[in-house]
Amino acid sequence: MTTAPRASDTYRRLLAYVRPHWVRFGYAVLGMVGFALTDTAFAALLQPMLDGGFAQKDQTAVWFVPVAIIVLFIVRGAAGYASTYYMAWVGWAVIKQLRSEVFNKYLTLPTSFYDEASSGELISRITFNSQKVANAASTSLTVFVRDTLTSIGLLALMFWHSWQLSLCFLIIGPIIGLIVGRVSKQFRKASRNIQNSMGDVSHVIQEAIDGSRVVKIFGGQDNEIERFELVNESNRRFNMRETKIRALNVPLIQLLVAIALAIIVYVASGPMLGDDSLSPGQFMSFIGAMLLLFAPMRRLTTLNSQIQQGIAAGESLFSTLDLESEIDTGTEVITHPVSSIEYQGVTMAYRPDKPAVLNGVSISIRSGETIALVGESGSGKTSLISLLPRMYEFDSGSISINGTPIQDYTLASLRDTISYVSQDVVLFNDTIMNNIAYGTGDSVSQETVEAACVAAHAHDFILGLDKGYETLVGENGIMLSGGQRQRVAIARALLKNAPILILDEATSALDNESERKVQQGLDTLMQGRTTLVVAHRLSTIENADRIIVMKEGKVVEQGSHSELIAKNAHYSKLHQLQFS
Ligand SMILES: Nc1ncnc2c1ncn2[C@@H]1O[C@H](COP(=O)(O)OP(=O)(O)O)[C@@H](O)[C@H]1O
Ligand SMILES: [Mg+2]
Repeated sequence: MTTAPRASDTYRRLLAYVRPHWVRFGYAVLGMVGFALTDTAFAALLQPMLDGGFAQKDQTAVWFVPVAIIVLFIVRGAAGYASTYYMAWVGWAVIKQLRSEVFNKYLTLPTSFYDEASSGELISRITFNSQKVANAASTSLTVFVRDTLTSIGLLALMFWHSWQLSLCFLIIGPIIGLIVGRVSKQFRKASRNIQNSMGDVSHVIQEAIDGSRVVKIFGGQDNEIERFELVNESNRRFNMRETKIRALNVPLIQLLVAIALAIIVYVASGPMLGDDSLSPGQFMSFIGAMLLLFAPMRRLTTLNSQIQQGIAAGESLFSTLDLESEIDTGTEVITHPVSSIEYQGVTMAYRPDKPAVLNGVSISIRSGETIALVGESGSGKTSLISLLPRMYEFDSGSISINGTPIQDYTLASLRDTISYVSQDVVLFNDTIMNNIAYGTGDSVSQETVEAACVAAHAHDFILGLDKGYETLVGENGIMLSGGQRQRVAIARALLKNAPILILDEATSALDNESERKVQQGLDTLMQGRTTLVVAHRLSTIENADRIIVMKEGKVVEQGSHSELIAKNAHYSKLHQLQFS
């Protein structure tokens, strides 16, 4: 991989997402400016209020100040609303954009990426990281603009009233800031601990739920209870630590502010100011500005860590967006019918550092042939057929359809030519109807679906379910038996009606009787199609045009059933094992 991206690059890239929304973003900034101005104006207003209104009963001040208070708060409210609303508007637009981009990216990544990634991590990247990025960005921008302006305004007001007192404050202020910063660091550490231990808690719960059957059979309840007690207790302790810091934080800060106040009151009333002594109104205005200054100052000191968090989350998103998609540089379209499929010296390893699982495999298949692959588990049958729709890339050799290498076709055209029933059936949490019609874009009629189900011997059992074709199958088809799931998957593949049919142990979960029936359906369907079958029961493939025997990633034998039996080698041995 390339070197880690620089933070400024990540920041610039994030800003590119904000750019299209610059008008709304401008409204938000205007709101922040208004908000900052009103804070300063409010502190300034304290002077005429006290000196004019209370002390001297000045008639203009008596009217002016209350009206000004109301006007100020109307402006402040409108400005606050605009800054929050428009900032959130931009933030959510960016979150949505990032989420769709990452999701779309996921759909184009190669299969090997999913083999190595954890689904939880991939999900949280879309849901959580994108939100963290946008929140951090909008909060830090709000803090930066609003609080910087507020601080500048308030400080200017303070200096205007008394530069001596302001200097005094500038000496005490940073000391308070330092102590508060120390405490907030502890606080952040405590929150991080809570977050991590929350992760542990959910992890234990999730395993206990997902593994409930294993827990029951193997009597793992005590073990799980113990595990849960451990994470539950440490979560409680981390929460208590955070509460302690928080509860101490408030009186500590108040005490510090009180000390600062005491010093400034002492200086203000003492002889040090000489001729520059303040009126009560000026003094209150000064103190008001000082108190209003603490909150924005504190937020400004945590700005950096917030930006860092956002950048870290942004980097993880961008690294996902920068991953290589499946290579789809081919331009040709497969013309039907398919006349030949040719594997030539194909070698493949799942990872460069792992041994090859296919070693120079050569097979040629003619149009309409049914080819059966047999061999011990782990001999490379699934790997071999998953190369045809380019689920994985191979390292050397070539695979071609109609004489053209499969890489020269567009992925869409290649995959459109192939129907595939994989070893592990995947069903969506939807109705049976939608599972079977998956990918047809709703253009398919009920009759066509039913015809496919009849062929897959699924029609009868589907009608027996409470809602027939509209029955929901549950997460990954959990409401169906293994054999029923397989028949739904076969129906789905048959409905696709592609010229090449690949069946990877597609009937392994069926009992002998149903398998025989499904097999009859499949036999009719294989006619006129080029079919690759991985069989787990040899009896189902005796009629295949050719049987290919695989061992340790190599083709060790091929021929018809009777030829291979006569040879009395690998196939005949496998056959004896199953039928003795
Ligand atoms: N996704 C994968 N990642 C890494 N190795 C794999 C993967 N799938 C299969 N293998 C390995 O490849 C070898 C062949 O597996 P496979 O093609 O599934 O055999 P078969 O289908 O004949 O049982 C096995 O050693 C297996 O461990
Ligand atoms: Mg397999």
